[in-house]
Amino acid sequence: MRKILVAGNWKMHGSRAETASLVEGLTAALGDAPVSEVAVCPPFVYLVDAAAALEGSEIRLGAQDLAVEPSGAYTGEIAGTMLRDVGCHFVIVGHSERRSLYGETDGVVAAKYRAAQRDGLVPILCVGETLEEREREVTEAVIERQLRAVLDSAAIASFERAVVAYEPVWAIGTGRTASPEQAQEVHGFIRGILAADDDTIADSVRILYGGSVKPSNAGDLFSMPDVDGGLVGGASLDAGGFAEICRAGG
Ligand code: 13P
Repeated sequence: MRKILVAGNWKMHGSRAETASLVEGLTAALGDAPVSEVAVCPPFVYLVDAAAALEGSEIRLGAQDLAVEPSGAYTGEIAGTMLRDVGCHFVIVGHSERRSLYGETDGVVAAKYRAAQRDGLVPILCVGETLEEREREVTEAVIERQLRAVLDSAAIASFERAVVAYEPVWAIGTGRTASPEQAQEVHGFIRGILAADDDTIADSVRILYGGSVKPSNAGDLFSMPDVDGGLVGGASLDAGGFAEICRAGG
């Protein structure tokens, strides 16, 4: 049985004080034993504060991006080893905002995925189609291309230490959530691609849904057979609401 994972992607929001009160509110709202696995991904500069505030809690820490290189003259970049050093367990790779706003290609995303595992982090690999791609009915081709780039570069065994997130671009920050059936269809497709390489690994990998997840729709989404949790943006910035989403996975 795959344990539901709910991860909060705080993107470039908040301040030091807001991060502190969000972590405090979340640990208080969830109590000692959250029903699902929970992770928060604050901006880089607040990771150290968040790690300290999360000490003793079961909530895991994640980062939103990492460098491909392990160290060196790469001004402005943050290495995976540094993220491990400050207590990160997860790192998001291939978020659609990185792909579309910062030009990350499938090749770059695959390299970041491998870098994450090399540096001891669990990548949360994001895939998803744009509205235009969905309307052209090429959703499956897009997802397969994005996934194949990683499979060709890192092999199926790597998915024993990875999480996949299906984030349809048209549902991110728009309030327009994929229906549970739409999510299930793509999640089943993703699992099928992985299963063609290894049934057992495909069955154990968690596939999260992301895109306008909120307390009112989380339960229905998480009840689908191949939806193993959520990657939550906007709604994870409210401790009470995010805790409710986490409980929807119990
Ligand atoms: P929203 O939940 O704000 O739609 O964002 C989803 C997302 O991009 C999480 O990574």
